[in-house]
Amino acid sequence: MCGIVGYVGEREALPIILESLKRIEYRGYDSCGVFVLLEDGNPKLHKDAGTIDHLKKNLSESEYRGNVAIGHTRWATHGEPSKRNAHPHLDGKGEIAVVHNGIIENYQHIKEELLNQGYEFVSETDTEVIPHLINLSLKKFNWQLKEAVREALARLKGSYAIIVAEKGFEGLVAARNESPLIIGVGDRENFIASDVPAVLEQTNRVIYLEEGDLAVVKKDSIYIENGGVEVRREERLIPWTIEDAEKGGYEHFMLKEIHEEPRAIMDTLRGYLAEDRINLGFELEGNAKGKSILMVACGTSYYATLCGKQIIENLARVPVQVELASEFNYSDFVLDGTNIIAMAITQSGETADTLMALKKAKRYGSKTVAITNVLGSSATRIADETIYTGAGPEIGVAATKSFVAQLVIFYLLGLSLAKMPESEFRGYLEELRGMPKIAQIVLDEEDTNIQRHARYLSKYEHAFFVGRGVNLPIALEGALKLKEISYIHAEGYAAGELKHGPFALLTEDTPVVAILTRQPLGKFDQQPFKKSLIKNATQASQNIYEKTLGNVKEIKARGSPVIAIAEEGDEEVEKYVDAVIRVPETSTIFSPIPNTVALHLLAYWTAKERGCEIDKPRNLAKSVTVE
Ligand code: M6R
Repeated sequence: MCGIVGYVGEREALPIILESLKRIEYRGYDSCGVFVLLEDGNPKLHKDAGTIDHLKKNLSESEYRGNVAIGHTRWATHGEPSKRNAHPHLDGKGEIAVVHNGIIENYQHIKEELLNQGYEFVSETDTEVIPHLINLSLKKFNWQLKEAVREALARLKGSYAIIVAEKGFEGLVAARNESPLIIGVGDRENFIASDVPAVLEQTNRVIYLEEGDLAVVKKDSIYIENGGVEVRREERLIPWTIEDAEKGGYEHFMLKEIHEEPRAIMDTLRGYLAEDRINLGFELEGNAKGKSILMVACGTSYYATLCGKQIIENLARVPVQVELASEFNYSDFVLDGTNIIAMAITQSGETADTLMALKKAKRYGSKTVAITNVLGSSATRIADETIYTGAGPEIGVAATKSFVAQLVIFYLLGLSLAKMPESEFRGYLEELRGMPKIAQIVLDEEDTNIQRHARYLSKYEHAFFVGRGVNLPIALEGALKLKEISYIHAEGYAAGELKHGPFALLTEDTPVVAILTRQPLGKFDQQPFKKSLIKNATQASQNIYEKTLGNVKEIKARGSPVIAIAEEGDEEVEKYVDAVIRVPETSTIFSPIPNTVALHLLAYWTAKERGCEIDKPRNLAKSVTVE
């Protein structure tokens, strides 16, 4: 939520700031602003409601020549999205400027105190107290900016990543507490940003600031302290390239990222699979012995995790409890934490609710694991162990390739913990290794068909998604994706649950997308490695298929149009539904992968048909760093 950036060096700062802001606009896009220290020593501010492109239109860049600048792109928390509430916020003299990501919980109290001392406020934001507090402290510290910032921060409760610029100061001061902040290291120039993609075009040398760090960044020096004591922070080389963070010819990041799903699967596998051995980088089996797994997550990561529960329980017979992080944080922890491995699943590694849940599990004595896509993110610094998904940078607000990469991690976890004959294990690995190809087939062969169905779906205002078993979470994910980018009201349901209430809503105006993939009878028989499971698994998936088909017939009887996701070669299904999206045959346990690719495409093309702002859906932001 909110992206902040800073530059200090020898080049023109403004174009770099605008470019960097554009690259992290996914963090918020309701208003934005820049503050530049001009060559003549004077500061200049420009801000507005709307996007970076909008800001640029009314900005005469030649009037903003200078080598030090900060910028902000906002996702409103306190105060409506408007020019007045946009950052940077200034002190009364207009000489200290602050950009902030986070929430100052005690700002009201501080604001009243400052108002009583004669300070004037021009915005409704919590942030505006910060430049005033710095101003208050400057005199006390003989105009030393670092000391003044340190004292101002000591007054704040809540979360923040801030960058401060001051007239006459040839550098920037940055600090973080519970909100992400990185320093990009350059040659006679340095960068500060909320996220790596902001600096990737300039450098891949990055320092991750830690909780409580305060940094003074100048063009040829970086000083970092924590608790008033100088500290050293490791510089890391980021493996992502700028091309990874660009659209690469696609109209939207989301479409590009859906097309990268096969690669995300492959790269995630590559990180942990050598020959026929899975190595997650730490000793999982010993740690998991006799324990159950608790998983916490939000949004799309939560749905991936619900699917992961079924994958791990099915493969390894280890009990997995899944909790929405935001609920877990305020619920009683009735389990013995020491008997649990707690896993936080988060693409960004910065979701506030998920981080809190991870910390809570840690307090209760659980061994903690972060499953994340972002190197060095906060989750990795809280957890005892980290497993990285290899999805590469995900820019579209709607999570896509990170979801399938998370599924891959669950297959690897399940197989690592599974006790099964070697031949069976190898059989699963073989099928898992084939998943990039399976995902690619959906992209290559069904895209046009899906676009046709999307045109049809786009005319409706309500839709249901149904699935069973391992595909219930995929139905939930399909519905979330559709609603978040196309604004069609969509609900995901267990196929058997519709008749317990939602049936009342079914009419010819409520299309239903039904996941009807199955394990065709006989397939297991051709695979000797699964002999021990053949009977039960075949029976169960056949039952699931038949029961879901039964539900589809009930739905059709209520007049709703049905789009099925079904396997190639399943001709039966055509008799009962209005349209079919075809996916390749897989074992039931792997069917979430092709089904997800199909549903992501369906959501994308439907939103496109409706002319929606796909990469920046209204009211959303990529990483939700507030509770
Ligand atoms: O970075 P995280 O995986 O922790 O993010 C969790 C959710 O905020 C995120 O998945 C959100 O639901 C996406 N917009 C869904 O597409």
